[in-house]
Amino acid sequence: MNYDTRIINVEKGVCEGARLIARGEIVAFPTETVYGLGADATNETAVARIFSVKGRPGDNPLIVHICDINQVEILARDISPVAKKLIDAFFPGAFTAVLKASDVIPKSVRGGLDTVAIRMPAHNYALELIKKSGTYIAAPSANASGRPSPTNARDVFADLQGKIPLILDGGDCAVGVESTVCDLTSSPVILRPGGVTREMMERVCGEVSVAKGVLKHAEGRVRSPGMKYRHYSPKAKVYVVAVSDQTPLAKKLNLVYDEFTRSGNRPVIFATGVDASAFEGRNLYALGQTPEQVAGRMFSALRRADDDGYDIVLFEDTSLSGMGLAVMNRILRSAGFSVL
Ligand code: TXA
Ligand code: MG
Repeated sequence: MNYDTRIINVEKGVCEGARLIARGEIVAFPTETVYGLGADATNETAVARIFSVKGRPGDNPLIVHICDINQVEILARDISPVAKKLIDAFFPGAFTAVLKASDVIPKSVRGGLDTVAIRMPAHNYALELIKKSGTYIAAPSANASGRPSPTNARDVFADLQGKIPLILDGGDCAVGVESTVCDLTSSPVILRPGGVTREMMERVCGEVSVAKGVLKHAEGRVRSPGMKYRHYSPKAKVYVVAVSDQTPLAKKLNLVYDEFTRSGNRPVIFATGVDASAFEGRNLYALGQTPEQVAGRMFSALRRADDDGYDIVLFEDTSLSGMGLAVMNRILRSAGFSVL
């Protein structure tokens, strides 16, 4: 279907968005993490259109968004005391609970799995949209499959123009990286790190493990199907530059940069440290000085690198603690695990 895609301020457009969703259309909307592409989670035809609009493989399940914490018990069963503790602590928020599914959400929405991923966004208009639609909203990030997640309405438009009727514009997303997806069907396992960190979770429930695929290439059968696909990729080739010998990281980045320049490329450095002055005179995006700032800016920066005509992105390796784990999970995927 070909639409004349409209962008409307979310405050003005939330009622219309909810009506469209209730009618089986799909609508892009802001959340505190990234923009979502939403449809009625109980309407299989509507949800099938999300998959086709995004070009998303059918075995990659969607997160179901709720507006009231009590809805968890309708969509899921066998909720353990630890799961309940984490849900109480992080709903609403950048936290997605994977639980045994009841039969309310159709299997096609869940990628054929017997679990369901549930999230309650910490965003007033997202909550209002869900509430007014009178249903649960299945929503992946509102990018074309494989592209960096959108953190503003323009980035949604760039990927989905003509394919959806409406984008609700809520400005820049506060967190800028997606939710933490956590398997709570037994002891908690982080399948995808995100806005709620492992450390935050551990303060609530003790030890939390992290799935193997988070920082490595995952193939074949994985617990979170999304982990095996190419992700977050701009047109430019992305490399993570890490310390590998005695050379300090900044010096190594400059050497790699100069080598690419000599061979006719147009590189840009994504600086993630406190001191970006070491890269002076070179093309540079300073993403911030904390992992939270870097997480908030990295997706839009990946898109901007293409717009600015760079063909190589050199990402300064950063710590894996706190939000750093989510940052490195996304960047390693966008780099196709190329580390220099
Ligand atoms: O912050 C977010 O989570 C955003 C906003 C829009 O809420 N949504 C989002 O959805 O990032 P998506 O589809 O781009 O990523 C969802 C991830 C995928 O990696 C998917 O494989 C995983 O969650 N997932 C969904 N349901 C699952 C399930 N039942 N079991 C394991 N993994 C699941
Ligand atoms: Mg996504």
